Amino acid sequence: MISTNDIRRSFLEYFGSNGHEVVASAPLVPYNDPTLMFTNAGMVPFKNVFTGLETRATPRASSSQKCVRAGGKHNDLDNVGYTARHHTFFEMLGNFSFGDYFKEQAILHAWTLLTKEWGLAKDKLLVTVYHTDDEAFGLWQKIAGLSDDRIIRIPTSDNFWSMGDTGPCGPCSEIFFDHGDHIWGGPPGSPEEDGDRFIEIWNLVFMQFEQQADGTRLSLPKPSIDTGMGLERIAAVMQGEHDNYDIDTFKALIAASESLTGVRAQGDSRASHRVIADHLRSTSFLLADGVLPSNEGRGYVLRRIMRRAMRHAHLLGAKQPLMHRLVPALVTEMGAAYPELGRAQALIQEVLEREETKFRQTLDKGLKLLDEATADMGEGASLPGETAFKLYDTYGFPYDLTEDALRSRGIGVDKDGFDAAMAQQKALARAAWKGSGEAAAGEVWFDIAERVGATEFTGYTSTTGEAQVVAIVRNGAEVDTAQAGDTVTIITNQTPFYGESGGQMGDAGVISGGDGLDISITDTAKPLGRLHAHNGTIRAGGVKVGDAVALAIDVARRDAIRANHSATHLLHAALRNRLGAHVTQKGSMVAPERLRFDFSQPTGLTADDIAVIEAEVNAEIRANNPVNTRLMSPEDAIEAGAMALFGEKYGEEVRVLSMGSKAAGKDFSVELCGGTHVRALGDIGVFRIVSESAVSSGVRRIEALTGEGARQWFVTREEQLKAAAAALRTTPDEVEARVAALLDERKKLERELAEAKKALALGGSGGAAQAADETINGVTFSGQVIEGLDAKELRGLLDQAKQRMGSGVAAIVAVNEGKASIAAAVTEDLTAKVSAVDLVRAGVAALGGKGGGGRPDMAQGGGPDGDKAADAIAALRAVIAGA
Ligand code: ALA
Repeated sequence: MISTNDIRRSFLEYFGSNGHEVVASAPLVPYNDPTLMFTNAGMVPFKNVFTGLETRATPRASSSQKCVRAGGKHNDLDNVGYTARHHTFFEMLGNFSFGDYFKEQAILHAWTLLTKEWGLAKDKLLVTVYHTDDEAFGLWQKIAGLSDDRIIRIPTSDNFWSMGDTGPCGPCSEIFFDHGDHIWGGPPGSPEEDGDRFIEIWNLVFMQFEQQADGTRLSLPKPSIDTGMGLERIAAVMQGEHDNYDIDTFKALIAASESLTGVRAQGDSRASHRVIADHLRSTSFLLADGVLPSNEGRGYVLRRIMRRAMRHAHLLGAKQPLMHRLVPALVTEMGAAYPELGRAQALIQEVLEREETKFRQTLDKGLKLLDEATADMGEGASLPGETAFKLYDTYGFPYDLTEDALRSRGIGVDKDGFDAAMAQQKALARAAWKGSGEAAAGEVWFDIAERVGATEFTGYTSTTGEAQVVAIVRNGAEVDTAQAGDTVTIITNQTPFYGESGGQMGDAGVISGGDGLDISITDTAKPLGRLHAHNGTIRAGGVKVGDAVALAIDVARRDAIRANHSATHLLHAALRNRLGAHVTQKGSMVAPERLRFDFSQPTGLTADDIAVIEAEVNAEIRANNPVNTRLMSPEDAIEAGAMALFGEKYGEEVRVLSMGSKAAGKDFSVELCGGTHVRALGDIGVFRIVSESAVSSGVRRIEALTGEGARQWFVTREEQLKAAAAALRTTPDEVEARVAALLDERKKLERELAEAKKALALGGSGGAAQAADETINGVTFSGQVIEGLDAKELRGLLDQAKQRMGSGVAAIVAVNEGKASIAAAVTEDLTAKVSAVDLVRAGVAALGGKGGGGRPDMAQGGGPDGDKAADAIAALRAVIAGA
């Protein structure tokens, strides 16, 4: 028996040896196609090649493409488990011609591979063509020699294939395999066509058009070929099975779940094992391609699939989470063909186990409620929508899980009632928000959020992407179109632009599109925490709601933001290491040019603290460990040591960022954070603290730079140093010694100057004459004015004057920078006649000041009018004269 893995290999080898480039499967998330939730056909990665936007070196390709059909146009979720051929995940084998060969070669290749290479019996095969496609009809006659009754004309959309509501499309021709008359069913187009006897195995699409959103079709630049063969179906045919779930791959997966649950895949349990095997594949491959469970968009589809499988595990009586334990079997089966599976194995297991553990906590209660609500219901009854909503809202039952749970009893669910209950909850949320007093202007965001749901952020992994415009806001109101010159806010269904939150600034960049549309986006906000609102100005062209646009963020700016954000986490950890666990984040701002971090800390940091913290952060940067992101429940994250911001609200899921070296099993930094970060710490470059200050009592602030910002800071500092060196006529290396020498010299000069002034006052060797003594009212008086004399010197000088005079009055006015100090001394024998205090008071008054004091033999004071120094001496003379 040929294995599924060998069939895949043989298909690719056949087309590879026939001039086709064998291309690896593209990821399940088509980031370059905004209209698609998941890659759902082999041609999706080549969409732009068909339409002529892109060219490839080789005009022929072949692939085995991972596909998910759950959500969107092609959605098979509800049927999986209960039919022989529905899957949420499957592989599509395909060969493609981009304007190279057309119908004839496509038919020839398909027929040759099936009947010659693989040896399928010709009489087991029949084909369909689009009813008007005479050319294809004739080619099947010619190439395959099929009789007319085995070439069936089909007039319906079954033979006109399109990728989605928009995109490449064309008439197609399908090849069917007859599984034999022991199975009920008729050929396509017959009344019994819904039976299971004739199974489509290969679809050859003759791509000729591109479907536009407005319903029109454009011709493709060149007719092309897209084919798709479900690997599981052809494997069933070649392995002699009728049911896809009986091929080797599924047998192995089902055997694994049988052995772990101890329940055989028989009777009622058969569907559960199939659901588990199918959903194990889709969830594992989606996780490997970066989708994580969440409550919106792709993440929610993933969660729905997971929970559906988990309910079936529960149904089989599994007492422990089951899904993660099946991953090794899947890797054994498919890891060789898809190496990404093995690479992501640890992540897949971790996420599955966490999801299942969490879901099991409410699953029992929800199922009990469901049993009670349906106890009296019989086949054909319908569960009230409100109950289904309660199961969704309180117990995390996605709508289709409730449907699935009631299916075996023939009970339906009131979908309208469910939708109404959901709408009512949204209306209540809006009313509560309005009542909260937030600006009414924001109501436009509510309208948009209600209509389009949350917008998806793709920017953890991409810096560019395509998207569909879902709303345009101008002057606070929604508009349908906007033109060059308008300042607008653009909302798209998905975006790589980060919306400002958690202290990280929003991204800037460009939105472009057809007709030369060019919007310069200056920042991105995140109103209601759910919408990504791109603010900018239209430089050229026009935009309307529904347009497909290309988004590209300013990568250099984002890289600078990433570096600053990751450095903030390292700083936080280093602060706690140095100062203690009382350090918690009080605020943070992560901009491209710098970072600011506020934290609780009663006292200022010393220069040593700052040096140690900065060195520690830089050591982590140089160690260059990769940054690790995981998704966890808030409780698990905190248990795992993540720093949580007190009072911060977290959703059901949080991103946990671990970075830096490991010590004693712990990462240097673990934080809950929705921001964007560097891949490895070396990307930060260098970290420099440029200021430390107080914000309020008990809160300090550090501002710091990284990477290029830090480099520029060092350059500026060096330029300043060089300029200082030039002014000092020395080299930067000598600046410190030179400044120290200059300061010494200055001190020495100051000392000498003071000495000189003193000497001058004393009439010493300074050379200047000492003040001439005069006699007033029988008293010897010496009055002097000395410019630049330090007031501290006054008393000493006056003591010396008294000694010299023996009996008399001496006074000095010292004038410094326009102000004057005055002191007067009176020898003991004269204090009864004239008091130094009275003298100084008179002098102070003359100097424009007030007061002055001391003792009768020595007093001091001062005044603002230094230029009145002579008047002050005159005032003293007058006091002595009147004594
Ligand atoms: N794109 C075609 C399909 O998916 C081949 O059926």
